[in-house]
Amino acid sequence: MKPTTCSMILLSLALANCQPNSNSEEKDQYTTSGLSIKVEEHGITDSGETIDLYTLENQNGMKMKVSTYGGIVTQLYVPNKDGNLEDIVLGFDSLSSYEEKHPYFGAIVGRYGNRIAKGEFSIDGNPYTLATNNGENSLHGGTVGFDKKIWKAKTIEETEKVGIELSYESPDMEEGFPGNLNVIIRYFLNNDNAWTIEYKATTDKKTPVNLTQHTYFNLNGASSGKILGHEVVINADRYTPVDEILIPTGELASIENTPFDFRKPMKVGKRINEDHPQLQYGNGYDHNWVINENEGNLKLAASVYAPESGRFMEVLTTEPGVQFYTGNFLNGENIGKGNQPYQKRSGLCLETQHFPNSPNIEHFPNTILSPEAKYESKTVYQFSVKQ
Ligand code: GLA
Repeated sequence: MKPTTCSMILLSLALANCQPNSNSEEKDQYTTSGLSIKVEEHGITDSGETIDLYTLENQNGMKMKVSTYGGIVTQLYVPNKDGNLEDIVLGFDSLSSYEEKHPYFGAIVGRYGNRIAKGEFSIDGNPYTLATNNGENSLHGGTVGFDKKIWKAKTIEETEKVGIELSYESPDMEEGFPGNLNVIIRYFLNNDNAWTIEYKATTDKKTPVNLTQHTYFNLNGASSGKILGHEVVINADRYTPVDEILIPTGELASIENTPFDFRKPMKVGKRINEDHPQLQYGNGYDHNWVINENEGNLKLAASVYAPESGRFMEVLTTEPGVQFYTGNFLNGENIGKGNQPYQKRSGLCLETQHFPNSPNIEHFPNTILSPEAKYESKTVYQFSVKQ
């Protein structure tokens, strides 16, 4: 049942004063500490299921829309240096476009974000074969990953932040992965313009888990063209080079004297076309950086600054890696919001994660979740402006 009545919202947010926001034309909207959440219908899937779209908003007008289809963040309105709000994430105007093949715009990615070579791995000597969907590799969970699942949603009761909890039960052997995996992902928005993601999962059999979020950001606005002028910092001395099909070689290579050194602010476009074999394999940046000294605490992984709009985004995570992907495979085929074709490099992703193909590379941090353990991970996308 949808929380469309005052009593449901009252229950879910435990608000002392459950008042419709009289300034808004939108119905079913209630606020506390300047934070609000509402729900509307996103649409009906091809198979006839109703999908909800939640809107989380803070006192600065920062607004995030989240679909129960794929946990997709369809819109993210963030103020620029003049206080003007713009939608800064790539995506579509309609649910049906998200149902079609697209490069994971805004979506939750799982069970295993990034690639598993040949879709094969073994646990305790037992071999498993996954659905392959990226040449011979398994990418982002397989043919029907978490980005195409319908998630259960409920609003979360907090005073300082507003949130939505998304849950999905992935059955044993889904896409070839062993074990029933119970996944809970929470998105929060607070009045400091932070979007926080908390990931949790449990399993009844050992299975690889690597959950991430695949939002494409363009800090000058979703339809503003290329991200080559964005200035990026990545808090990493090393990265994991790949072979020609983007599988890590296993090396933790130094970024020193390479176009992969983002320790100081660097425009994305400055070195992206340099004659470096790794940039050729990735068709640009599409690599995992090894975040410095990450021992599972929330730590700065990367930041992005767009001088034009003044928007600044910091990415903090408990994960050991971050995939910096510069939209190299976008080619104008995806017609996005407002009928804009998304061209190469019109958005960038910072996917916090464990390293690609870890189930097959022993010295990479472990990604096998056991029934006795709990998967817990946290990432924050923190927004502000620089004048
Ligand atoms: C990730 C991968 C890329 C690409 C995109 C989706 O970032 O690393 O190679 O598959 O997802 O197009």
